[in-house]
Amino acid sequence: MLANVKLLLIVLITAVSTSCALVDTSLHLFGSQGSRSPLVNWYLDELDLSYTQLPPRPNPHPFNQVPCLVDGPVDDLSTCSPIWESGAILLHIATKYDPNYSIEKHAPWVVFANSALDPICFREDSNGRVLGTSLDKPNKKIAVLEEMLADSDYIVDNKFSVADVAIASYLNYVPLFNGDSVSLRGIPNVVRYMQRCAEREKFGGAFGGQHRDMVRGLCGKWLVEGKGGNADKKMFGIF
Ligand SMILES: *[C@@H]1O[C@H](CO)[C@@H](O)[C@H](O)[C@H]1NC(C)=O
Repeated sequence: MLANVKLLLIVLITAVSTSCALVDTSLHLFGSQGSRSPLVNWYLDELDLSYTQLPPRPNPHPFNQVPCLVDGPVDDLSTCSPIWESGAILLHIATKYDPNYSIEKHAPWVVFANSALDPICFREDSNGRVLGTSLDKPNKKIAVLEEMLADSDYIVDNKFSVADVAIASYLNYVPLFNGDSVSLRGIPNVVRYMQRCAEREKFGGAFGGQHRDMVRGLCGKWLVEGKGGNADKKMFGIF
């Protein structure tokens, strides 16, 4: 009897440990709230995926940066397969876990965010330090976004998608990094879009309340300024 119980236990323990080793394909995200990695958290949270948040370092990113995702075990950082560059990470998650993802509709916007929108949102020095933004300057691509967002709440088919995670994340870093040293009053549809995305529950969860409130506050201010509202009137009142 005792021998049987022992045997059963051994079988059970073996089964459990074997299945853990085989089934540990869970997502591991290296990053922190003060970096660009929360955009990956945002998408994972919008999809209700569970994942393990890991500190930024050590990580298996070839340039030792974040975000860095491992879709599988991370027991040995030297042999695991990391996915890096925010756009590549988003596209990996989209392809594997997002039932609404379409490569034709969404992938171009994710790549656009990384290649074209990034240098507009972030003016950087040669070391990648953010010096300011060009989002407040006239720009043909931003003018197209402004027009698209005049009658659409979201980028693709008027439905929230990975395209919005990529684009709104970048846009919403502009208020965070620049405060009111910039004004986006000239692109109110983009500003309303930034606000709309920041109001999403999962945005605040991923980026934190301070980041969300900064976007909310400054976008509200820019919309008032754009209408020639209070902010401008007060300025004239001084003189
Ligand atoms: C997919 O699209 C449907 C219809 O728009 C929506 O209800 C659903 O929430 C979407 N699913 C995800 C995971 O985004």
